[in-house]
Amino acid sequence: MSNYLKTTEELYKEVAITPNEGLCCTTNPVWELPGLSIPAKMLKMNYGCGSTVHPRDLVNNPKILYVGVGGGMELLQFAYFNRNNGGVIGVDVVDEMLDASTVNLKEAEQTNPWFNAEFVNLRKGDALNLPVENGSIDVAAQNCLFNIFKENDLKQALGEMYRVLRPHGRLVLSDPVADQIMPEDLKNDEQLRALCLSGALPLKDYLTMITEVGFGTVEVRARRPYRILDPENFNTNQLIFIESVEICAIKDPMPEDGPCIFTGKSAIYFGTGEYFDDHKGHVMMKNQPLSVCDKTAAALKSLNRTDLFVSESTYHYDGGGCC
Ligand SMILES: C[S@@+](CC[C@H](N)C(=O)[O-])C[C@H]1O[C@@H](n2cnc3c(N)ncnc32)[C@H](O)[C@@H]1O
Repeated sequence: MSNYLKTTEELYKEVAITPNEGLCCTTNPVWELPGLSIPAKMLKMNYGCGSTVHPRDLVNNPKILYVGVGGGMELLQFAYFNRNNGGVIGVDVVDEMLDASTVNLKEAEQTNPWFNAEFVNLRKGDALNLPVENGSIDVAAQNCLFNIFKENDLKQALGEMYRVLRPHGRLVLSDPVADQIMPEDLKNDEQLRALCLSGALPLKDYLTMITEVGFGTVEVRARRPYRILDPENFNTNQLIFIESVEICAIKDPMPEDGPCIFTGKSAIYFGTGEYFDDHKGHVMMKNQPLSVCDKTAAALKSLNRTDLFVSESTYHYDGGGCC
């Protein structure tokens, strides 16, 4: 096993035994849902950098897989949407983290009358070799783990998520990204990598890796400021801005002309007709914004029409749209 993976396991063993509230910086508020009460210890062990729990992915009791369990907070949130025994599988490579999650989920039973710890099936296992059957999962999630992996391992971890998902299943993830090039020294610093600070890829590269394993549709749902690496405290001669992103990748077949990647672009037709039809499957009613993937946005822009507006990426995609 590579050294950086061992360093990672050691770090998470420590913070499983002694929770470290400042370890990761979540940049979104913790989900409040009716009847859901999150134990204080789970909040303290919230080592994520966004949320992977989106109600619109979670209709009809989906079978859920969560890799890298932390203190179990998102396991509990996912179980809210699938209240069957073993409806949520949690996988982690660190025994102490699985133990902490087990204790925290048991505690959650006390304050959540709807919850039974048996809804969650905890398994020891590695993101690089998941102990989960092919094509058995509807929603596979990971929060702030994959950024730690070096590129070959990241490719393997994404491939594993793809393997276990059913057709049209969803990979939901939250991770740090950085558009500036990370200096090699920082990239190779095992401790900083394990702390989710120096493995961040540019968003574009991360999206390419996701589509290269086969996901035909990708949604960038949120992009928020996360951390700064500054020359005073880190081995860098410039400020490095890290953001956290929330992405959903859907195991749809790959379109012949490449993946549909939604980054929050919209097109608005404002001409004299009732609607505009590009005869490629996109009909826009006058003055009604249509969410478009980056591929469609580029095709519409290339028409050079004076009655068609195509927005820039907002990185907040909420569904609907052209594909
Ligand atoms: C940054 S924490 C995130 C925890 C949790 N997802 C959250 O949002 O609070 C990373 C988690 O991944 C686990 N982990 C580290 N290496 C792993 C691996 N190779 N396979 C599976 N889990 C791993 C750690 O034990 C830890 O629970």
